[in-house]
Amino acid sequence: MEHILVTGGTGFIGSHTVVELLRSGYDVTILDNLSNSEASVVDAIEQIAGRRPALIVADLLDAAAVNAAFDGAHFDGVIHFAGLKAVGESVQKPWWYYHNNLTGSLNLFDAMAKHGCKTIVFSSSATVYGPDNPSPYVETMSTSATNPYGWTKVMIERILTDYTAAHPDFCAVLLRYFNPIGAHPSGLLGDDPNGIPNNLMPYVARVAAGQLPKLTVFGDDYDTPDGTCLRDYLHVVDLAKGHLSALEYAKDHTGAEAFNLGTGNGISVLELINAFMKENHIDVPYVIGPRRDGDLPGFWANADKAKEVLGWTAKLDVNDMCRDAWTFIQTPKD
Ligand code: WQD
Repeated sequence: MEHILVTGGTGFIGSHTVVELLRSGYDVTILDNLSNSEASVVDAIEQIAGRRPALIVADLLDAAAVNAAFDGAHFDGVIHFAGLKAVGESVQKPWWYYHNNLTGSLNLFDAMAKHGCKTIVFSSSATVYGPDNPSPYVETMSTSATNPYGWTKVMIERILTDYTAAHPDFCAVLLRYFNPIGAHPSGLLGDDPNGIPNNLMPYVARVAAGQLPKLTVFGDDYDTPDGTCLRDYLHVVDLAKGHLSALEYAKDHTGAEAFNLGTGNGISVLELINAFMKENHIDVPYVIGPRRDGDLPGFWANADKAKEVLGWTAKLDVNDMCRDAWTFIQTPKD
């Protein structure tokens, strides 16, 4: 039985990935500081998967705690989600983002090296393509960023790439997520950020549920078909399954390898809002507001490499994403 350590495993993408790992027969230990989630997510994971992961409540900045986790169990691999991820907040608090995301990752990598754990799947992001690459994004393109959060993803990819060059028996799979949305169809897991959501879909869902009065569409004067920004939205369950494909790949590969996890299609803000209203027969009141600083007009994936090398493609469509997000927000929380 392979045992995987999942950092940040009570988060949105992490929790869905833990469900798929458990259902596929892996043992799982979650290491999470619960700064943006709750321990009760483990109960939902168990209810869905029929098996329970272990939970270590710890912070990656606590190197002793990270090493203690590796002293206490043998891990065949690590999936590393834990990190701060709010673009705007990273601009306001750059030091904190660099410290939390980089020092935490280095503590993790150091503990892995000391305990002979040679496989990592890293939660990277399409944001590493920066503002200048044309879509569809291809893995061979240059990387850069326009904010500290994005730079931490670029830097961690670099750290892992350089480490695998110096340690040829190490494997680092760098998964560049596009825009994960939706929820587990059970309604027990989903995107439930603390406070007012920064991202589109959780905001739309809360407006539809009457928890927020209306959505503001950040600009409709972009050079796109309907004037609103295009993004490559993919279902979080598809994304979770991509991590299992990455672990399978790592079993007989070494070195660092980046993969786009996206659908390959760009959908506009207005198209997503309309799909949500049509699929769920619910109104989502919205107004057009000014552009949001830092938003790119549009980006989407070339998803060929993940299909050809990992054997992974996104299977669920935008209607599935909208339906599952709506089911989640309507499901009573304990
Ligand atoms: C999507 C579109 C907004 C909210 C971000 C991070 C990225 C990744 C995913 C971590 C944009 C518009 C949004 C709203 C709106 N996070 N929008 N009204 O910005 O593509 O990506 O989240 O890895 O790194 O940058 O996603 O959902 O915030 O925005 O009109 O209330 O929806 O302008 O065009 P984004 P998003």
